[in-house]
Amino acid sequence: AGDQTFGTMEGDKQKLNLRREVGIIGAVSFIAGTMIGSGIFMSPQYVLSTVGSPGASVVIWACCGLIAMLGGLCYAELGTVIPESGAEYIYMLRTAGKVVAFMFVFSFILVMRPASVTGIALSIAEYVVAPFYEGCTPPPLVVKCVAAGSIIVLAIINCVSVRWATAIQVVSTVAKVLALALIALGGVVMLFQGNTQNFDNSFEGTNLGVSSIGIAFYQGLWSYDGWNTLNFLTEELKHPEVNLPRAILIAISLVTGLYLLVNVSYLTVMTPRELMTSSAVAVTWGNKVLGSWGWIMSVAAALSAFGSLNGTFFSGGRVCFVAAREGHMPDLLAMAHVHRLTPSPALIFTTVVSLLVLIPGDFQSIVNFFSFTAWFFYAITLAGLLYLKIKKPELPRPYRVPIILPILVLIAAIFLVLAPIVDDPQIEYLYVTLFMFSGVLIYIPFIHYKLLPGLLTKLTVVLQLFLEVAPADKNL
Ligand code: ARG
Repeated sequence: AGDQTFGTMEGDKQKLNLRREVGIIGAVSFIAGTMIGSGIFMSPQYVLSTVGSPGASVVIWACCGLIAMLGGLCYAELGTVIPESGAEYIYMLRTAGKVVAFMFVFSFILVMRPASVTGIALSIAEYVVAPFYEGCTPPPLVVKCVAAGSIIVLAIINCVSVRWATAIQVVSTVAKVLALALIALGGVVMLFQGNTQNFDNSFEGTNLGVSSIGIAFYQGLWSYDGWNTLNFLTEELKHPEVNLPRAILIAISLVTGLYLLVNVSYLTVMTPRELMTSSAVAVTWGNKVLGSWGWIMSVAAALSAFGSLNGTFFSGGRVCFVAAREGHMPDLLAMAHVHRLTPSPALIFTTVVSLLVLIPGDFQSIVNFFSFTAWFFYAITLAGLLYLKIKKPELPRPYRVPIILPILVLIAAIFLVLAPIVDDPQIEYLYVTLFMFSGVLIYIPFIHYKLLPGLLTKLTVVLQLFLEVAPADKNL
């Protein structure tokens, strides 16, 4: 849990530093804790309704786990060849170059991070209000207000105290593992009692359209997203060359196993119809299996997502940090509060953008746009790994994967980016793509030619005094 210490003041040098203090247990819980969040409590119904049959839905969940695992192993090599924090950002910077890295950080800050925050917040909200609207769909406005409330509460907590944020992480991890284990166990018991009727003809009705398979993957992979979390903080890891690959392997297998059991359990207890119409599957599951204790699932799922949101707020700060070091970001976004040591400017910025995304957004479309953007950049990162393997074989590699792995994941990533567009092109994906590329338009005048430096410096100083923040330093 000490893995959330943001830094320490170094005596008179007045620099904020990140320490190397994450061990293997911390590393595994960091990955698993980020991966398990809202998705497993929200996405099963969307996966099922897009692919059309229980059998195909379990297959999709298994394939998502496999993709996450292979992706994770490729990232383990990347993280040991390039032992710097910042994941995709730093890998792209070292392979594809500055412009692409900037494009990533631009999309990360304005699309991906707010989208994850908002998606998770919507899941908290669904679970918080579910017990009050048993058997009917809660009004969207109520859900959105609760979501906004939880974003604001967590942003305040993360600005005020690293210790509180850490405590939330611990409570939430316990809650989610217990909840998933309970669901898995309940499912196994029901299966052994012979409740297998929902799996008769389990592939009937499967929808094999390219775009529906793509969308089903988006929904499933959302639940697995976070498999790259540890690569954001390589510089804070003890013995990264050993612990990075090991933690990735352990955490992703653990999560995949749990997710598969939980999905089988949902499908055992509920008919596909019930699953698809439930706005909070774990609560429906709870009501059927635990009877009057069903509300427990609502608390556990809300806590789980709450922790994931907390972690998302927390870890994204690392990217701002590394990007500001490279001059790709206003310095302000990489500063930390001088006494509390919390990255408050970046937190406040993310909160504002997330609240804006929340106004028009619904869970399913937010997740789809998030996955689209994320897999676009995972593809570039994997291409970078291939480049390093082919062009720079001499680099020291404490951990290496066979070249076929990045090739496979790259093919999967390209499929994932193209599939939803090919069959059923929606104009929104064009907007997202244009937005990602508009990063280049900002890069040329403001970063490359450093237009307007004076203005930004002045603004930074004013805001710095107002927010009481100072630059933090790198630790290698
Ligand atoms: N997998 C998480 C969930 O199911 C979402 C992770 C969002 N991404 C992130 N890097 N925090 O809620």
